[in-house]
Amino acid sequence: MNLKVRKVASGFAGEVIGADLSREEDFAPVYQAFLDYGVVAVRGGPLAPAAQIAFAKRFGPLMGRRPSTPDKVLMPGYPEIILLSNRREKGQKIGISDAGRYWHSDLCFEEKPNLCTVVHAVEIPPVGGDTLFADLEMAYTALPEALKLRIEGKRAAHTFKKHYLEVMAEGSDRPPLTPEQIENLAETYHPIARTHPETGRKTLFINPGHTTHVEGLDGEESAELLKTLYEYCLRPAHIYRHVWSVGDTVVWDNRRVMHNAEPYDMGLYTRHMHRCSIHGDAPF
Ligand code: SIN
Repeated sequence: MNLKVRKVASGFAGEVIGADLSREEDFAPVYQAFLDYGVVAVRGGPLAPAAQIAFAKRFGPLMGRRPSTPDKVLMPGYPEIILLSNRREKGQKIGISDAGRYWHSDLCFEEKPNLCTVVHAVEIPPVGGDTLFADLEMAYTALPEALKLRIEGKRAAHTFKKHYLEVMAEGSDRPPLTPEQIENLAETYHPIARTHPETGRKTLFINPGHTTHVEGLDGEESAELLKTLYEYCLRPAHIYRHVWSVGDTVVWDNRRVMHNAEPYDMGLYTRHMHRCSIHGDAPF
């Protein structure tokens, strides 16, 4: 089948049909779609773990083990893959069952956040478990000039600790981090409006999950500014809902979009996904 790229009808994302992700020749059009759309859904059928890792490495070096990830959720034999899953083996949970259920950008709290994330769907629930994406480039473009000026040169703080401690306090059954891992989750500052290093276009780089405050503003002013910016981020026209099919491989650009995984009935259904994360640069 010939490789075809098109914009999805229901949002800003792109869709690729007919790609063989193991073929080097098929990578260039997928990568172009990734830069053009920010989210690209490859409708390709099953992808073995080694093939997913090889495909993910074409985007750049993989992130490897992070302080924010418990070792128990790494795929046995393939530690480059994190299991997003509510499956159990011998009664034990094998993955993170409640990952990403809030608006965030992957590893934005690191000095060099994730460039992109590659998720492959192995098993999906018949209802729920969609992933929402918000295009923060469209959000930045939609800002009035006065607001663009107000955030010019300003930085915001990001940390994983806030969200992690919140979900654990709510009773999440994810494997706990070690005290050393928690200690390593420092607060990091990044520009609120960053320039995409490849397209040169500007995009917002904040998210409700990990961004705690705007540097140099008092609590109230910082909260008010972030609230205003999130209203632009979360406009319906800036959102794409990905309804997964088994065999989808979705790649999203964490330099440009934030995402939010919707819940599903974990008592009735299984959702099992393989995730690889790719190293990015320090935002500027
Ligand atoms: C995540 O990486 O934040 C989770 C994405 C998903 O499970 O849809």
